[in-house]
Amino acid sequence: MKRSLISDLMKSDIVQTGVLIQGWVRTRRDSKGFSFIELNDGSSLKNMQVLADETLPGYNEVVLKLTTGSALAVEGDLINSPGAGQRWEIKARNIRVYDIAPESYPLQKKRHSDEYLRTIAHLRPRTNKYSAAFRIRSELAYGIHKFFKEKSFTYIHTPIITASDCEGAGQMFRVTTLEPTMQKPVDFTQDFFGKQSSLTVSGQLEAELFALALGNVYTFGPTFRAENSNTRRHAAEFWMIEPEMAFCDLSDNMSLAEELIKYVTAHVMEECPDDIDLFARFVEKDLTKQLEKIVGSEFVRLPYRDALLLIEKSGQTFEFEVPFGQDLQSEHEQFLTEDYFKKPVIVYNYPASIKPFYMRLNDDNETVAAMDVLVGRVGEIIGGSQREERLDVLERRMDECGLEKDSYWWYLDSRRFGSVPHSGFGLGFERLVMMVTGIANIRDVIPFPRTPKNIEF
Ligand code: 4AD
Ligand code: MG
Repeated sequence: MKRSLISDLMKSDIVQTGVLIQGWVRTRRDSKGFSFIELNDGSSLKNMQVLADETLPGYNEVVLKLTTGSALAVEGDLINSPGAGQRWEIKARNIRVYDIAPESYPLQKKRHSDEYLRTIAHLRPRTNKYSAAFRIRSELAYGIHKFFKEKSFTYIHTPIITASDCEGAGQMFRVTTLEPTMQKPVDFTQDFFGKQSSLTVSGQLEAELFALALGNVYTFGPTFRAENSNTRRHAAEFWMIEPEMAFCDLSDNMSLAEELIKYVTAHVMEECPDDIDLFARFVEKDLTKQLEKIVGSEFVRLPYRDALLLIEKSGQTFEFEVPFGQDLQSEHEQFLTEDYFKKPVIVYNYPASIKPFYMRLNDDNETVAAMDVLVGRVGEIIGGSQREERLDVLERRMDECGLEKDSYWWYLDSRRFGSVPHSGFGLGFERLVMMVTGIANIRDVIPFPRTPKNIEF
């Protein structure tokens, strides 16, 4: 017998005989002579109501013992449901039990806090909220590949293990096969790769090399940062999408960022309406309006200097001041996106002193052609820039940032042989999932979050 997904059966136009579904029991209700079993198989939020009649083989021994969390296969007929609330139900002809869950199953029918569910992250995908979040996450990933495919970008796999620090922020996890020792200095020539190696913080430098060969490319992979900050928006392991485009300036770069965010938001609204609706009802009341606004409005483009002026003139009291040369804090991002413009804002031309070496120096010699896309609730969702394509300026910036030029010889070669203006950005995938679901904590949008002092599962 062909196995069906509950999500497909729910869309059926006709009654069907002889269907097979498999899933986990959410609830069982008994009446005189029959029971209703709500079965969920993870294909959608919807449960299939299974009608189990007392004439079913093993009704007393099997059906009446079914508990929440038990695993079943049900063979039967898809019939119109006489009850209110659902169009279809399955009248069981045969029920096969894989496993009866004991009373200690932690997901009994009540609402659990996100904090508690994090402690049982191996079971939380069996709840409505988390199954919806991870279906949306999957659909977003597909939407991203679809976007770039339609634009003829080439997908590049950049290394996970690297010997260079793209962001220069010193937040790298070391990769080594040496025995731990307190002795210093460590002799890395004895190590696996013969020099100090780490998990990558960004695939950008390698993506640039490929952009200067293939034109338009992107990466989509895991990145790692040993940032010891326990915030709602930072994880030690997160996924990033990094497009890189040859012959492209900052303005084109901003346009692509805006287009990408709008495209994938519209994509999940179209493909996951029930899952999005769950978040709009139970997690973020304003969600549908917020997403429609993101898709329908033109993003603001605001030079960093003007952002500072707006913050200063706002009349609001902030915990932190922002003198020129400091990064915006989340309270300032919130002011710009939620209070002042009430839509996404792209802040650009940041001071060179707070940005990495690879960003293109502007003619004022003080700012770089950087851009951050800020969105409500989440804050910075994208960071990017036009890249410094002039060899002499790049070398000067590397000296200023204290980088060892010799070990970046391959990167500098790209500025020696056929250098062209090029640009790109990094979109934080978890922050994108937070944006479209309204989920407030990054720990709840990645299956098994890695944060300081937390590496369970
Ligand atoms: O602004 P970032 O550090 O930019 C880069 O890494 C560039 N190399 C990207 C590029 O131009 N190709 O990071 C990009 C984005 C941020 O805007 C944020 O959304 C996300 O990555 N991000 C994090 N997400 C979760 N946890 C963290 N610790 C993150 N750090 C950055
Ligand atoms: Mg950034």
